[in-house]
Order: sequence, then structure tokens, then C-alpha cells
Amino acid sequence: MQVSETLIRSDRVRSISEIRSTVQDDLKSFRRYFRQSMRSDVALLDHVVQYLLRQKGKRIRPLLVLLSARCCGTVSESTYRASALIELLHTATLVHDDVVDDADRRRGVFSINALWKNKVAVLLGDFLLSRGLLLAVEHHEYELLQIVSEAVKRMSEGELLQIEKARKLDINESTYFRIISDKTASLISACTASGAASVGAPRESIEQMKLFGEKLGLAFQIRDDLFDFGVKDVGKPLGIDLKEKKVTLPLIHALEKASSSERRTIMRIVKKKKKSASDLRHVSEFTVKNGGIVYARQCMKELADEARSVMSEFPASEARDSLDDLAAYVISRTR
Ligand code: IPE
Ligand code: IPE
Ligand code: MG
Ligand code: MG
Repeated sequence: MQVSETLIRSDRVRSISEIRSTVQDDLKSFRRYFRQSMRSDVALLDHVVQYLLRQKGKRIRPLLVLLSARCCGTVSESTYRASALIELLHTATLVHDDVVDDADRRRGVFSINALWKNKVAVLLGDFLLSRGLLLAVEHHEYELLQIVSEAVKRMSEGELLQIEKARKLDINESTYFRIISDKTASLISACTASGAASVGAPRESIEQMKLFGEKLGLAFQIRDDLFDFGVKDVGKPLGIDLKEKKVTLPLIHALEKASSSERRTIMRIVKKKKKSASDLRHVSEFTVKNGGIVYARQCMKELADEARSVMSEFPASEARDSLDDLAAYVISRTR
């Protein structure tokens, strides 16, 4: 019975906008908290915030908070606060990330550091993070604070481990997974865990949701890392990982498959301070030739399948189906 139901459902995976439309009113409440928390009387800050608010992020994280909450109980103001806090935090980390990665484009427009310089971007990120935390403190949301602070800690650790590995260039697959778990999956699993916690779900359900978010988050970052090898416009710079000596899963795998002389040639390019367009193309072709792209895609798919199988243990509901569809979206998304 269960099996045939799954089979029928997999016939039609809903698009992200269809999924969004099932929680339209919840998303409105999210936006209210999100906008209000960003307000400031400082003119420069307000100016930059208005610029941020016009951007079109995918808003996957608030969607995950809302759907996980719905999956486990009845959505409340606590759920909206969790969704706003997490999107504020996510926005803060992206603003900081573009400083760290020296990226001049984000969401199809100039990054904050490109327009207002690093100083403003660093301070804006701190402002957004603290406004998010205040949202929780002011309403005594200590469980939410616990979940989110843990994620913030892990995100910083993941980013720093990534920098360490870019300097030493001794990354392997297991370190790669540790990095993406810390820098990306930690926040995605905080979304699903805090959604469940916001409706008073039992501990096991919160843990189960966290596990779903962890697997989904890993798949999400592999998809992002695959973009770097592509040529399609995704609204942010391409080839930037390699420029910054960030060796990700496709290349890690290709290096493992290659001969030691080939490996030396490629590593020489990765180490170069200034890489030409032909250098980048060379590494890209090497990665394809040695099965790196196929392998990373396969890992990503397996993780999404594992996430979906965790989800299947929740009682049937529209929200559960939406989370299931979202897992399919995460690995097929084009931005
Ligand atoms: C980008 O996250 C950062 C990563 C973890 C790869 P998103 O792709 O969710 O960013 P927006 O909010 O939609 O721009
Ligand atoms: C995203 O990391 C930021 C965090 C997860 C903290 P990346 O640098 O890999 O992501 P994009 O590609 O710039 O969005
Ligand atoms: Mg980065
Ligand atoms: Mg980046």
C-alpha cells in the first residue's frame, strides 16, 4: 500500500513555485518578520537593506522551516520567527561569504562588497545576525537559539576548515564532506529541526527532521559545487572555487582516478595564483574526463534519496509530500 502510494506520487514532482503556493499565507507572515527585523534608522544601513530586500533569493530555508513545522503540528508565531531568524542568518552569511570569496555577483546582481566595499558588508552581516538573534531572545525562544547557535558555530568552523584546506591543498573526500556538512548542511538541518521544535514536536521527530535536513543540505551543496564546473548563468560567478583553490567533490574524485603525473599537472594549475581561462578549461575537462561530474551527481542523488526515505517515515500529509518534492528540486535546480 505504502509502496504503490509512493509510486503514484513520484509521477508528478511539483515545482518550487507550486510548493510555495501551498504555504502562501505562512510565507506572508515570514516576510513580515523578516522585513521588520531588518529596519534601521541609520540611513546607510537602511539604504543597503532596501537593496537586499529587492533581491530574489530562493527562500528555501524559510520554506523548509514552515513545511517541517506543518509536517509535525500546527504552525505558530514561533514558526514564523524561526523562519525569519534563519533567513536573516543565511543572508548575513552570504554577505560575509562574498567578502571571503571575493565574489562580485550574487543573485544576479552586484554583491554588497562590490557596491559598498568590504567594511560595509562585514558590518551589515553582523547587524543581520544580531537582529535575527534578538528576534529569538525577545520572545524567549531558547530552544530555537540553541539550534541556531550550534549551526552558526559549525558554519564558521566549516568555512575555516575550507580555508585551511585551500592553503595546504591536502583535501580528500571525507574532509570535503565534513566541510559541506558544517558550512551548509548545519543550517539546512537547523531549518527542519527548528520547524519541528516550533510546534512542540517530540524529540524523536525533531531528530528525524534534523537528519532529513542534514542529508538534504549535503545534496544542496554538491549541486552548488557542480555549478562551478558549468557554463550556465546561475546569478553568481562561475569557476570561482578553483580560482580560490577550493577543491570540491568532482575534482577530488577525478584526482583520485588520475595517474600521478596527471595529478601533478592539475595540482600545479590549482596552486597558481593567477589562472588563465585555458587553465580553468583544462581542469574542467580533466574533471569530466575522469568521471568527477558523474560521480558527484551520483553522490548527490543518493543523498537526496536517503533524505526522501527519512521523510517517508513521517505520517502522510501535504507538507510531507512538499518536503519530498523539495528534495527532488534541490538536486535538479538551475540556480
Ligand atoms: C547559497 O544558498 C549558499 C549555499 C549554501 C550554496 P542559496 O542557494 O539558498 O542562496 P539564495 O538565498 O537562494 O540566494
Ligand atoms: C556558501 O558557500 C556560504 C555558506 C554556506 C556559509 P559557497 O561560497 O560555497 O557558496 P556560493 O556559491 O558563494 O553561494
Ligand atoms: Mg564561500
Ligand atoms: Mg561563495
